[in-house]
Amino acid sequence: MEITKIELFGYRNYEMCEIEFDSKLNVICGENAQGKTNLLEAVYYCVVGKSFRASREKEVINLNKNLAKIKVYIKKDIGNSTVEIIFSRTQKKTIKINGIPIKKISELLGEFNGVFFSPDELKLIKESPEDRRRFMDVDISQTSKQYFYLLTRYNQILQNRNKQLKSNLPLENLKDVIKIWNEQLAECAQKIAKFRQNFVLMLAPHAKKAHAFLSDGKEELDIEYIGIKETEKKDIVMALEKNFEKDLSLGYTTYGPHRDDIKVSINGVDVRTYGSQGQQRTAALSLKLAELYILEEATKTKPVLLLDDVLSELDDNRKKRLLQFCKSTQTLITCTKFNYAIDCKIIQIKDGNILKNS
Ligand SMILES: Nc1ncnc2c1ncn2[C@@H]1O[C@H](COP(=O)(O)OP(=O)(O)OP(=O)(O)O)[C@@H](O)[C@H]1O
Ligand SMILES: [Mg+2]
Repeated sequence: MEITKIELFGYRNYEMCEIEFDSKLNVICGENAQGKTNLLEAVYYCVVGKSFRASREKEVINLNKNLAKIKVYIKKDIGNSTVEIIFSRTQKKTIKINGIPIKKISELLGEFNGVFFSPDELKLIKESPEDRRRFMDVDISQTSKQYFYLLTRYNQILQNRNKQLKSNLPLENLKDVIKIWNEQLAECAQKIAKFRQNFVLMLAPHAKKAHAFLSDGKEELDIEYIGIKETEKKDIVMALEKNFEKDLSLGYTTYGPHRDDIKVSINGVDVRTYGSQGQQRTAALSLKLAELYILEEATKTKPVLLLDDVLSELDDNRKKRLLQFCKSTQTLITCTKFNYAIDCKIIQIKDGNILKNS
């Protein structure tokens, strides 16, 4: 899968612009605040149907316009397609595939695959387990609708159970109610844990390979799923029962996949606690590159790699190796200065316009 062209109209600081992309490495170059991230944001909008940074949809419409439009042209193994998104100040946005409006975001997923990485993704390594659970959930959901439904259901049951724990029901009645929720919770928990376990097992060798490549063989990355130990439904129910007193005193459920995590270590040492900045960045990047492989395997087509501002964060050796990797898959990478002797298309952006498209 490849993006061959994008047209932008009234999108952020782009009034009207058309950019053609090469099938390999595309370097989007420009000074600060010229529209490099905006361009990647627009491309990724067509992948997932939402922005990675705008909290409000209308925020992307150019301040002097009432309408914004993104249109991407996609080349696939079989046939080509277009994805178009139209934003208006007065109505909800419209998404069209090949000119035909879609009704639900889920119809868009899979039309144009891409993986996005920005320095913000460092959260994946540095911050709370919640970020790593989200990473698992987003990825697994992309390839399994069943998982998405399971997760929604699990969260509903969990909320209900927590609500009961805080209620003033007499203990005996409460125990009966909780028993019903335990059964249902355990059923979903077992399946979710299995999905996540498999996902991390699948991701691990790719992440290890990517990290070894980026660090020139100096570092070994390991990732491990840290989740519930019980694999049978009856054992999960027992674990929930065992924790009942504790849950009751705290007023929430302390056991289950909503507490899962992924442990990331380099050369046997936990990266979150002991890793250097560069190591943490490389590890986050390796997880994303592994994600690219997994998506490729699941969809049988190479996704587009979108990298925002990653070069400034890495040492020369890692930069060169990353760029070498980028040549193997279509990549759009942003930077303020580019001086590497590497075959690529340079797209120079100034104030929402292209200066050079060579
Ligand atoms: N709705 C909008 N209308 C007009 N301009 C906008 C809108 N939203 C954002 N901008 C402008 O876009 C600019 C930021 O662009 P962008 O984030 O793409 O910069 P960048 O080239 O990635 O810079 P940096 O190198 O600092 O990351 C801001 O200066 C902002 O004024
Ligand atoms: Mg930027």
